[in-house]
Amino acid sequence: MSGAQRRSVILGTGSELPNKVITNEDLEKMVDTSDEWITVRTGIKERRVLEEGKGNADMAYRAAQRALADAGVEANDLDAIIMGTVTPDYPFPSSACVLEDMLGARGAFSFDVGAACSGFLNAISVADSFIRTGKANKALVVGSDALSRLLNWQDRTTCILFGDAAGAVVLGASENGSRGILSTKLRTDGSYVKQLYVPAGGSLKPARAETVERNEHTITMNGKEVFKIAVRSMEEISREAMDEAGVSIDQVSLVIPHQANRRIVVALAERLGVPMEKVMVNLEKYGNTSAASVPVALDEARRQGRIKNGDIVLLNAFGAGFAWGAAVIKF
Ligand code: UT7
Repeated sequence: MSGAQRRSVILGTGSELPNKVITNEDLEKMVDTSDEWITVRTGIKERRVLEEGKGNADMAYRAAQRALADAGVEANDLDAIIMGTVTPDYPFPSSACVLEDMLGARGAFSFDVGAACSGFLNAISVADSFIRTGKANKALVVGSDALSRLLNWQDRTTCILFGDAAGAVVLGASENGSRGILSTKLRTDGSYVKQLYVPAGGSLKPARAETVERNEHTITMNGKEVFKIAVRSMEEISREAMDEAGVSIDQVSLVIPHQANRRIVVALAERLGVPMEKVMVNLEKYGNTSAASVPVALDEARRQGRIKNGDIVLLNAFGAGFAWGAAVIKF
């Protein structure tokens, strides 16, 4: 494992789950599906939905406040706020700017990173670079998405999968430790853009009465293709991140994978050679919360006492783009 150098360390974590719950039984009343199908094919039992009238930054704000309190850091001490999201409050400016104002973080520069389900991995990787190069000393990294806003609630192939949530991490700098973020790895393959995307609402097909009529502002997905590439890619990039960190899979005490589908998580664990006891799974309660999935699971794992000082944790995610990533962190 690499020695003393300036590194990013996790000072605190926090998360926010909206109160409104939609169970599989609720979905049975909305589309032609069943609790049994959803449970067997995905492992998901229920998901949360952000109430109407609230925006993504409202969730992000609560998660961020908890992470700041956990870290003992004031919002004014933040140098950077980086938010992984594909469901900002507005087309522009970024939700990170909305969040910055809500937090009253007067000294920060803030921006969003759009990498769908890999958004948190991308955001933490960027924040880590700022910290390691001395451009920031304290950074708030958020993964927050309200994919409920992009769902066609008549499409049973997608509406059963997703939920809303926010997760946040406060990063600080450590000058002389071997702990902290040991490595991050990111990858994309743009040849898969149309396997998982929202066709309208951008500059190519702006919002018009016809695009709304045709439901083109909602998620369109080739689930089988996503499944296949996700398992392979997350395995590969996890191995690359572990190699860079000089860590073997046996040294990893907990894997925190993107919470998309229990079958994907189990297949990934098998390929990595990790027993399921060492894999964090909470997707049965929240579904796939996109950029929030990994930081929410990380926060829950910490609160459940599943991460102790000295533990090495492997994070990984995969989503639209396709974009995927992994990180190895020593606590
Ligand atoms: O972060 C990345 C985001 N995306 C993902 O993670 C998605 C990855 N993919 C998956 O998780 C899985 O591919 C799904 C859960 C989306 C689908 O599972 P599957 O085992 O690949 O099912 P399938 O698409 O092959 O569908 C099997 C059958 C089909 O019926 P036929 O053609 O066999 O008659 C579907 O029409 O199940 C049907 N089906 C459903 N039935 C009941 C599809 N969705 C549903 C549903 N309820 N909700």
